[in-house]
Amino acid sequence: MITIGPYRLTGRAFLAPMAGVTDLPFRRLCRKLGAALAAGEMLSADARLWETRKSRLRRDHTGEPGPRVVQIAGGDPQMMADAARRNVDAGAEIIDINMGCPAKKVCNKDAGSALLRDEALVAAILEATVSAVDVPVTLKIRTGWHPESRNGVNVARIAEGAGIRALAVHGRTRACRFEGEAEYETIAAIKQAVGIPVLANGDIDSPAKALRVVQATGVDGVMIGRAAQGRPWIFREIEAVLAGRTVPDEPSPSDAHDIICSHLRDLYGFYGVEAGVRIARKHIGWYCRERPHAQAFRQSVMQVDSAEGQLAAVREYFAALEQSPAEAA
Ligand SMILES: Cc1cc2nc3c(=O)[nH]c(=O)nc-3n(C[C@H](O)[C@H](O)[C@H](O)COP(=O)(O)O)c2cc1C
Repeated sequence: MITIGPYRLTGRAFLAPMAGVTDLPFRRLCRKLGAALAAGEMLSADARLWETRKSRLRRDHTGEPGPRVVQIAGGDPQMMADAARRNVDAGAEIIDINMGCPAKKVCNKDAGSALLRDEALVAAILEATVSAVDVPVTLKIRTGWHPESRNGVNVARIAEGAGIRALAVHGRTRACRFEGEAEYETIAAIKQAVGIPVLANGDIDSPAKALRVVQATGVDGVMIGRAAQGRPWIFREIEAVLAGRTVPDEPSPSDAHDIICSHLRDLYGFYGVEAGVRIARKHIGWYCRERPHAQAFRQSVMQVDSAEGQLAAVREYFAALEQSPAEAA
């Protein structure tokens, strides 16, 4: 069981924060389908940027099961402390700090994984943030700054010393961006070096891979990003395999349809119909990615701009799959 401060989590598979993806509807869906925790999209530590509609939506946690995780990013210790405090005042129950994002600058300062090369600044940011709030603070990092300088173990020790309560590690360095394959040796070394819960992240795309990574690294849990796009039920599959249970079957086309429709309705409700329909398109693309006739369906559904039309197109597509399962083989 993973414990983060006062929170004893029910599972070991976390949804990775993804800007533009892990909005409130997607977090609610993934939690319902078994994700133990789901951080929101990264929020800049600069509170002056929070008054846009986009930031307001990012800070909405209505109806989200707790503990609610808000991720912040920035390179200035005081600004980060302040951002953490203000988010806790607004209801955040865990603050997650992003030092894993390869984007170079946030508010004209090094932020994300660019910070990893400056260990003194890392320590200052973590200490300032931890002491600013009375909720647990967690950290997301890469394995280091550069393949030649994988200082993830040092950073993990600094984090533990600063009072960070859990650490997620993406198995790439900043210089790797999203290229090559994630490596898990450094994650195993980090797990050995600290006593706080460690989550492995990067390229985990099936229950079997989750199990292999947990066994190879000894980590407490896994964090899933891209593989949850269009497959939010991956969390219940991973939970099952990590608990030694049989992995549940993939949802049938009709069950998948029900999940997708409730996701789409949630998007319309959250963003309003016009933006909701637009945002739903990329999710629909992911949901049918590995299904028959995906390309033709995607092309036609992209033209639809009403909620009813979108729901009907999805219903027809999945009804056809349900009726001719041979096609899906
Ligand atoms: C579209 C997209 C947006 C992302 N946004 C964030 C973010 O806001 N904060 C963060 O810490 N990581 C972000 N990441 C990185 C992911 O959390 C994760 O570390 C990375 O995708 C590797 O995991 P995966 O192989 O399971 O996708 C993002 C990744 C993607 C693909």
